[in-house]
Amino acid sequence: MEKKNLYTHLLILLVLINLSSSLNVPAIFIFGDSVFDAGNNHFIKNCSVQADFPPYGSTFFHRPTGRFTDGRTVADFISQFIGIGLQQPYLEAQIAVMNGSRKEYPSKGLNFASAGSGVLQGTNKGWGVLPIQEQLRQFKTLIEQKAINRSVVERSLFFLESGSNDIFNYFLPLDTPKLDPDAYVEAMIKEVTNLTDQIYKVGARRLVVFSLGPVGCVPARALLPAAPINRCYGKMNAMVKKYNKGLESLVNDIPTRHPGAIGVYGAVYDTVQHIRAAPTRYGMIFMEAYGFINAMYNNTFDRAGFSNVSSACCGDGPLGGQVQCGKEGYKICQNPQGFLFWDYFHPTQHTYELISKALWEGKKSRIRPINLKTLTNLTLALV
Ligand SMILES: *[C@@H]1O[C@H](CO)[C@@H](O)[C@H](O)[C@H]1NC(C)=O
Ligand SMILES: *[C@@H]1O[C@H](CO)[C@@H](O)[C@H](O)[C@H]1NC(C)=O
Ligand SMILES: *[C@@H]1O[C@H](CO)[C@@H](O)[C@H](O)[C@H]1NC(C)=O
Ligand SMILES: *[C@@H]1O[C@H](CO)[C@@H](O)[C@H](O)[C@H]1NC(C)=O
Ligand SMILES: *[C@@H]1O[C@H](CO)[C@@H](O)[C@H](O)[C@H]1NC(C)=O
Ligand SMILES: *[C@@H]1O[C@H](CO)[C@@H](O)[C@H](O)[C@H]1NC(C)=O
Ligand SMILES: *[C@@H]1O[C@H](CO)[C@@H](O)[C@H](O)[C@H]1NC(C)=O
Repeated sequence: MEKKNLYTHLLILLVLINLSSSLNVPAIFIFGDSVFDAGNNHFIKNCSVQADFPPYGSTFFHRPTGRFTDGRTVADFISQFIGIGLQQPYLEAQIAVMNGSRKEYPSKGLNFASAGSGVLQGTNKGWGVLPIQEQLRQFKTLIEQKAINRSVVERSLFFLESGSNDIFNYFLPLDTPKLDPDAYVEAMIKEVTNLTDQIYKVGARRLVVFSLGPVGCVPARALLPAAPINRCYGKMNAMVKKYNKGLESLVNDIPTRHPGAIGVYGAVYDTVQHIRAAPTRYGMIFMEAYGFINAMYNNTFDRAGFSNVSSACCGDGPLGGQVQCGKEGYKICQNPQGFLFWDYFHPTQHTYELISKALWEGKKSRIRPINLKTLTNLTLALV
């Protein structure tokens, strides 16, 4: 099975690697949760999962955009690496098209991600978030309305990242899950399989599926009575790994299940664990010991490294994980770029940047079977 898939990939690559350097990807369509949300939730009435207030966005945009970090997300960085610029939240573009301030939807793609959502339709439903199935329905509607060109869809990248909220919620004491962990993960994978099937059906040929990061290490675990504070929550990470494994085998099956399509698996979990294990590798080794030098230079020194990989830069309570950044009583660190986590659930822009670089031009231990740079350069023969 494994061998056959690899062979299929090779076959496609041999025929289709494009030796020119023309831009083969006109657009990116993004589906998922708060890791990717660029502001959709802000436009959902009564949605209580928000990051549309300060100090979100303070490092890069210098204003809140609805992104759940201090700057750009992985989707933003990859768009910039490709050279097509950032994708607007779909709901924002929709308002602009409706009110006439915009003639048509942007040609470089759209971001449908909704923070708080999961791959299971019931996840955080009461908070007004848009499940990923609903995000896909919105996209399909645009295709049906011919607001998005099928020839664009066929050449575009499709980003899929979801599942953290389903797994985190599994451990909420008030939610009493009826399924055992394995069956729960299986149900999640079934939903993702259905999603990728649907995305293929409407014409997508380049699917990028991102694994979950180590959700059991987020500062927000301090909200869970059963989770340890001084180390990651092993039970949660075990479930995440199982889900990621399922995602990867789903991705491996894409070329055989969907002729003409390519699936790429981004190993975000391993990339983040690598950073956590050797934070200073990503900066200057003396940074921690001589933190005062850094302070003298206005914290510009540690731009490349991490001094804190456990607590949130912005929040309050144990690990900074019990109060959302920007909410009453929050505290903020002086050097977000030195922190792996920005708020209780989410990485800083610095972390996202490192992950993005690993996905863009990393080795197979980071992204496989090919990295995003190679994927972007492929010309796919349309089947
Ligand atoms: C891939 O595309 C980029 C531009 O997007 C170009 O700089 C690079 O040379 C291309 N590489 C190959 C191998 O085609
Ligand atoms: C939003 O919440 C208010 C008050 O709870 C309710 O009256 C209103 O119908 C809700 N609007 C939507 C669009 O759900
Ligand atoms: C139309 O919607 C866009 C996006 O929300 C907004 O920026 C713009 O001000 C609106 N224009 C009018 C005329 O209402
Ligand atoms: C769709 O794309 C093709 C090729 O880029 C172009 O010729 C055509 O005009 C586009 N159609 C619409 C409705 O944008
Ligand atoms: C996905 O699941 C829905 C029901 O939730 C079903 O109606 C649909 O046919 C499925 N789509 C595919 C492509 O399997
Ligand atoms: C640190 O920042 C302050 C205020 O922005 C500036 O006046 C000072 O020159 C900076 N110091 C260094 C060493 O860059
Ligand atoms: C990380 O930052 C938090 C909050 O500023 C602090 O309480 C904690 O001691 C720091 N941990 C390390 C290892 O520096």
